[in-house]
Amino acid sequence: GTKSERYRPQYHFTPKAHWMNDPNGMVYYKGTYHLFYQYYPGGTVWGPMHWGHTTSKDMVHWQEKPIALYPDSLGYIFSGSAVVDVHNTSGFGKNGQVPLVAIFTHHNPKLEKLKSDKIQYQSLAYSLDDGKTWTKYAGNPVLPNPGISDFRDPKVRWYEAQKKWIMTLATKDHITFYSSPNLKSWSKESEFGRDAGAHGGVWECPDLIPLNHNGKTVWVLIANINPGGPNGGSAAQYFVGDFDGKNFRAYSKKTKWMDYGADNYAGVTFSNTGNRTILMGWMSNWQYATVVPTVAWRSATTVPRELGLKEVGKELLLTSKPIKELNTLNEQSFSLKNLAVKDSYDLTAKTKNNTGLFKLELSTQNTDDFSIVLANEQGNEVLIGYDKSANQYYIDRSHSGKVDFEKGFGKRHTAPRFPSDKTISLTLMVDVASVELFADSGLTIMTDIFFPEKPLNKLFIKSTTGISIPNLTYTRLASSVL
Ligand code: FRU
Repeated sequence: GTKSERYRPQYHFTPKAHWMNDPNGMVYYKGTYHLFYQYYPGGTVWGPMHWGHTTSKDMVHWQEKPIALYPDSLGYIFSGSAVVDVHNTSGFGKNGQVPLVAIFTHHNPKLEKLKSDKIQYQSLAYSLDDGKTWTKYAGNPVLPNPGISDFRDPKVRWYEAQKKWIMTLATKDHITFYSSPNLKSWSKESEFGRDAGAHGGVWECPDLIPLNHNGKTVWVLIANINPGGPNGGSAAQYFVGDFDGKNFRAYSKKTKWMDYGADNYAGVTFSNTGNRTILMGWMSNWQYATVVPTVAWRSATTVPRELGLKEVGKELLLTSKPIKELNTLNEQSFSLKNLAVKDSYDLTAKTKNNTGLFKLELSTQNTDDFSIVLANEQGNEVLIGYDKSANQYYIDRSHSGKVDFEKGFGKRHTAPRFPSDKTISLTLMVDVASVELFADSGLTIMTDIFFPEKPLNKLFIKSTTGISIPNLTYTRLASSVL
């Protein structure tokens, strides 16, 4: 079965078979979380895109559903979002049934062959059965292409202050904002980003998110970029600023990175989750996504993360934390107090873990070098650590097992540490083929995948200089594969 397949993630969503990339149309409605995703049911590499569909009551246990959207005469179904049209502004609602509306990019392969630059445009589909089945709007496309080759990934949200919809769209090297009263007719409001942020690649999959900071609304603009990430390939940059229904003004034009690992791309947030802001990303990277050594399927999503803001010095930074619902996976757990680690401390016997799934939380009292090492008898290892002289966290997957499917895969990735205090606190979420590092209350995040020859069932804490750990908690996690 799928549960015991080699490299099959046990608590990250994966399709049973075939290719997946970006999460799409994430929306919460009537107690159910819907996750759609870029899906090619005809193979394990990228192909004509569909929207796959899976649902969950807790964002942890997912049940795969029939494909929601198929390619049609207007093209493949590229990335996009979904909203609950409570006021039936679209008019799609019938007999009081609230419509769920998906706003996605149609990508036209026929026009692409003809070398047209108008190959991408935005279209709608709606559901009148709470997300089960979807009907494409007969008036598609609703936003034609103005002559920009990369014109895609609409993320739509209701802007209550002006009672209108705002679409955040990736338009090559910048973001364009549009607004609409009814999701069907769109007017351009403004642009952002030609003179801001990183430009090592094309901007894709944006999101514009209001977050509460000391009672004030601060807006975060996520603009995924590929390539040009801090550790190579695909990555998620963000800007913090204000939005007034027309313009987004960033407090700083300098790029910030939501995740410094190599494997959190195209992440966007769920619609309709009230005060919570929850993001999931695609846990892969265009550098090697199509050649990773899984057989039946390719790619997984990251764990869902709750987003927030935190002041560091004069800056406001985005924080990401694993959602609390993940605690439903908690199994046996133990804590160690006042642990002095010199050289190497072997946790293997205590953990007796052959599933490879666990959460490790620890805090250190000083900020000397240390690493957490996931290893096996075969000599494969993944190191997650802190380098004091560089004031950096790192994940090193150079010797993590299968690395030679792509020359850039077997590398050490680094990330800055932001706070200046001496206490490091971090949480690691480890699955069969991935690790997600959440450091300093979610200020530094690193997500990396790996493919060891055998499960990484050994666990060490290492420090040549020596560190003191006031508290370490290890929790084995259950599989959520149904
Ligand atoms: C990002 C992306 C999107 C596009 C989709 C196509 O990974 O390139 O910009 O809509 O994938 O599958």
